[in-house]
Amino acid sequence: MKIAFVAPKLPKTGAVAVAVMDGGKLTPSAAQLDRATGGALTRAIKGGRFKGNTGQVLEVLAPAGIGNSRVLLVGLGKPKDVKDLGLEEMGGNVVERLNRSGERGVTIMVDAIPGIAVPAPARAAHCALGARLSAYSFDRYKTKQKPEEKPSLEQVTVMVDNPAAARRAYAAMEHVAEGVDLTRNLVSEPANIIYPKSLAAEAKKLTKLGVKVRVLGVAEMRKLGMGALLGVGQGSAQESQLLVMQWSGAGGSKGGAKGKGKAAQPVAFVGKGVTFDTGGISIKPAANMEDMKWDMGGAGVVIGLMRALAGRKAKVNAVGVCGLAENMPSASAQRPGDIVTSMSGQTIEVINTDAEGRLVLADALWYTQEKFKPRAIVDLATLTGAVIVALGHEYAGLFANDDKLADNLFAAGQAVGEGVWRLPLGEAYDKAINSDAADMKNVGDRAGGSITAAQFLLRFIKKGTPWAHLDIAGVTWSSKAKPTTPKGGTGFGVRLLDRLVADNFEGK
Ligand code: BES
Ligand code: MN
Ligand code: ZN
Repeated sequence: MKIAFVAPKLPKTGAVAVAVMDGGKLTPSAAQLDRATGGALTRAIKGGRFKGNTGQVLEVLAPAGIGNSRVLLVGLGKPKDVKDLGLEEMGGNVVERLNRSGERGVTIMVDAIPGIAVPAPARAAHCALGARLSAYSFDRYKTKQKPEEKPSLEQVTVMVDNPAAARRAYAAMEHVAEGVDLTRNLVSEPANIIYPKSLAAEAKKLTKLGVKVRVLGVAEMRKLGMGALLGVGQGSAQESQLLVMQWSGAGGSKGGAKGKGKAAQPVAFVGKGVTFDTGGISIKPAANMEDMKWDMGGAGVVIGLMRALAGRKAKVNAVGVCGLAENMPSASAQRPGDIVTSMSGQTIEVINTDAEGRLVLADALWYTQEKFKPRAIVDLATLTGAVIVALGHEYAGLFANDDKLADNLFAAGQAVGEGVWRLPLGEAYDKAINSDAADMKNVGDRAGGSITAAQFLLRFIKKGTPWAHLDIAGVTWSSKAKPTTPKGGTGFGVRLLDRLVADNFEGK
C-alpha cells in the first residue's frame, strides 16, 4: 500500500474520509462535502448513533451531488483530547473499513481545526502511520486467495496544508513501521522456516542498512562456556546460534568521533529466540502448541528494532543480542535434573526443561555485559504463561533494578500505545530459586511465576548495570484485531523501544 501527502483539494472520485468532532460537529472538509451533497452527511448522522466519538465510523455510500464512491465520517472526539494515538487509530480504522471493500484508494482530509494541540502535519503523519500499520497482513502461504478475498487498498492519500512537513514527519515513522512489520513477519513464520540459522540469516540482511551482524555457532559458544543456552538446544537437529547486531549511530571510539563518554557506550537489547518451544522432555500438552512458533518473539522485536534504528539513522550506539535455540525432546535433549554451567560460572539445576527461555537469556545477558559494557540493558522474552494470567493481553510485564529505566519504559509505552506494567522484585522471591544441588534451579513453585523468572534473570546482571526485563508472552500475538494491529503477530515492543531510545538515549 502506497502513502502520499498532498495539498488539500477534495478528490472528485474514489473514497474520501473526513473527521467529525464530538457532538457530530463537522470539520471544514466534512462541511464542504455536506454542502455538495445537499446535506446527505448531516442527514446520515441524524439518522443513527454516530456522535463523532473516537473510534466511531459512519459510511455514506455514493451520495448524490458528488462523484465519490463513498464518504467515511470518522469520529475524532473532543479537540482538546486529540492525541497522536487517536489519530493513528483513525488512520487504522479507515483502512480496516475499506481494505476488504474493493475500494482501491482513499483520501483522508486533515483540516486545520482550532483547539487541537497536535499540528496538522504531525496529525497527517500519525494518521498515515496508523493506516500503514493497519494494512499489514501475513498471507504468503495462501495460494488460493481469490482476488475478492485479497486486501483491496493500494493507495492512501493524506491531504493537508504543508504536505512537505507531513512527509518529513512520516519519513522517520515509516522506518519504524518497517521494523514493526519485519517483527510481525518473523513471528508469523512457522518453525520449519524460521529456526536458529534461518533467523540469523534474516538478521544478516540488516547489513545493507549499516548494521554490523555477527553470528556465533555452537563451537564458539562452547568455548565461551555457554552451557545454559547450549543445554536448551542440544535436543534439536537445528544448531543453536548467538546473534549479535550493532548499530553505531552515535559514533564513538570505533565508529567515529561523534559519540563521547556515555553516549559512546551502547544501550543493549537482548531477546529470547526460542524458534520453537515443545517444552523439551518436560513436554507441553498438544493443545495450542503451535503457538510456540512465536517463542522467538523477543528476538523478533530486537531484530525489528535494529531495523528501525538503522533505517531512521538514530543517533545512538545500540547492540542487539539474541539467543537462538530450538527446544526439542530427543535422545540428546537435556533431562530434568541436569546441572549446567552458565557463561557466568554459576551452575543451574534444570528442574523443568520447559523453563528454557531464562536459560537462553542467562548466557545472552552475560555475554552482552562482558562484551559491550552497556549503559543499560533491556531484555524481551515470551517468558511465562503466568504473565498472561496476571496482565492479560493488554500490558507486558516490566521488571527492573533501576527506577529511572522503569519509568522511562512506562512513559514510552504510554506514548506509543504499547503499555508495560511494573511488577515487583525482591529477596523473598529470589529465595524460591535456590537449589539443593547447584547455585540455583530454573523454576520456583507456581507462586509468582513471572517474578521468579525475572529473579532468575537478575542473577545474571552485574551490579551497577541498569536492567529491565519485559515479559511479552501476553502481547506478542493477538487473536483480536485492533485498529492499528491486525490479528496475529503484533510487533509489540518495536515502537516502545524505538521511543525509549529517541527520548532517552539519542544524542545524550
Ligand atoms: N514460552 C513459554 C511461555 C509462554 C507460554 C509464552 C504461553 C507464550 C504463551 C515458556 O518457555 C514456558 O514454557 N514457561 C513455563 C514456565 C514454567 C515451566 C515454570 C510456563 O509459563 O508454563
Ligand atoms: Mn518453555
Ligand atoms: Zn519458551
